[in-house]
Amino acid sequence: MLLEYFIFGLISFLMTGAQCEVTEVLAEAGSQAVLPCKYSSSSSSSPAIIWSEADKGTVWRKQKSGLQYWGSSWLQGNQRVRCPHSQYESGDYSLQINNVREDDGGSYSCRVEHRDQVSETVVILRIIKVSFSPLAPIMGNDISITCNVTPWPIGASVQWTLNNSRFVPQTGITSKKVTAHSVMRMRVTAGLTGSWTCVVGYKGKEGQASATLAVKGIIQPSKDNTKVYTAVGSAVTFPCVFSYGLIPSHPVWEKLKPEFLFNPAPGRLPASFSPSSESQFPWDKSATLKEVELGDEGKYRCSGAVEGQRLTRNMQLVVAKIDSSDLSKKKGSVTLTCQLTDTSEVTDYEWVHVVYDLNGTKSVGSVQKGKTLSINTVSDENWGEWTCRFYGKEGVLGNVTYHIQQMSGLSEVKSTRLSHNTAAVIGLSFLLVVLLLILAQMYKNHQRRKRIFQYPALETIVHTISNEREERERNQVKE
Ligand SMILES: *[C@@H]1O[C@H](CO)[C@@H](O)[C@H](O)[C@H]1NC(C)=O
Ligand SMILES: *[C@@H]1O[C@H](CO)[C@@H](O)[C@H](O)[C@H]1NC(C)=O
Repeated sequence: MLLEYFIFGLISFLMTGAQCEVTEVLAEAGSQAVLPCKYSSSSSSSPAIIWSEADKGTVWRKQKSGLQYWGSSWLQGNQRVRCPHSQYESGDYSLQINNVREDDGGSYSCRVEHRDQVSETVVILRIIKVSFSPLAPIMGNDISITCNVTPWPIGASVQWTLNNSRFVPQTGITSKKVTAHSVMRMRVTAGLTGSWTCVVGYKGKEGQASATLAVKGIIQPSKDNTKVYTAVGSAVTFPCVFSYGLIPSHPVWEKLKPEFLFNPAPGRLPASFSPSSESQFPWDKSATLKEVELGDEGKYRCSGAVEGQRLTRNMQLVVAKIDSSDLSKKKGSVTLTCQLTDTSEVTDYEWVHVVYDLNGTKSVGSVQKGKTLSINTVSDENWGEWTCRFYGKEGVLGNVTYHIQQMSGLSEVKSTRLSHNTAAVIGLSFLLVVLLLILAQMYKNHQRRKRIFQYPALETIVHTISNEREERERNQVKE
């Protein structure tokens, strides 16, 4: 390295005064570097050009005749070096190197020989490369992020950006410049995922290189204390997804007791809680709660061991319900209130009337803002589902639905009507029975009379017999 600088310095020294300049080129590893070399001449005859590198000798050269030669180390594989001939006319003999590597970095010179005139340009090519160690770190472990510039420009400035915003090393991050690179060492968090760019500034020139860091660990939810919203009575999924292919050993789900605010202790999971099923990928440890009750709200923790590191993710279940009350004390009117066990992230509430037509197709009716809603339950226009949607900064967090019970509304009416009816029915039945009895009696009488009329002689006989008997009895009494 020192020798290189010495040679470069020597060349620069020798060239001072002559038609010579030193150009800095900063290129990202893997990209195309263009090493400028311009020579203007009024003559129409073409000059001889020699591009050479301090360590490796000739890179490429062209004779006056137009014949081209490549240096042996630049011939292997696909030709990475060319000097586009279309630009010769304008006196541009810039060298293009494709897919530059760190070992391409160094001092190059472009020598243009025209008649007895010689002009030389010196170009320092510096290759910038961002690297991570380890390549795909596990959350909680340490990582080194390095910006290599070969050769390193002494006195250069190095800045980092992460996902296009400036990354300023904070306390706990050791950042140092070693002679050949700038390195940051830090604890791995999910927040380090993304595109890292190292911006190098040197002598008024700027170059940059980027690389994407993939952090391994629990990728969903990506942050601790993520809130999971659900409604009473519905099912909910607690996400806990590890990086693709990262299979944790001893995965555990816990519900944390709320009493211990700072160091929560594990408590009992709800009865309908079911951890990951066999059908999921082995790195998906999401769990479900089949029927959420109000008391299920609180903190839950998913954890698993990966490469000797226990990864955990805490999340909070927020349960929503609708309270209904007839505050107005007016019959046929109800006030609905959207209640959540934690409202810290909620910015807005909205009520939506969901209507079903005869075909069962759902359509959204009127929308009203606010946490509470007063509606008239008598009007059948308001029957159906009323959904309270709650919003956070980034959109809808969840919803909870209340059924204005067409059925219960009716059943109220129905039940009272039913009691009236029962009385009526009982009364009517009683009347009917009496009527029937009367009818039966009348019928009996009628039948008897009919039977008697059938035998009028018999009746006379009976009558005379009874008359005779009566007379006899009277006579007996007289005697
Ligand atoms: C109900 O379905 C029938 C047949 O699919 C369709 O013709 C009709 O328009 C639908 N009615 C409504 C109210 O959507
Ligand atoms: C309520 O949430 C469920 C599940 O996210 C969704 O399918 C449904 O469309 C939502 N309802 C309304 C009215 O927003």
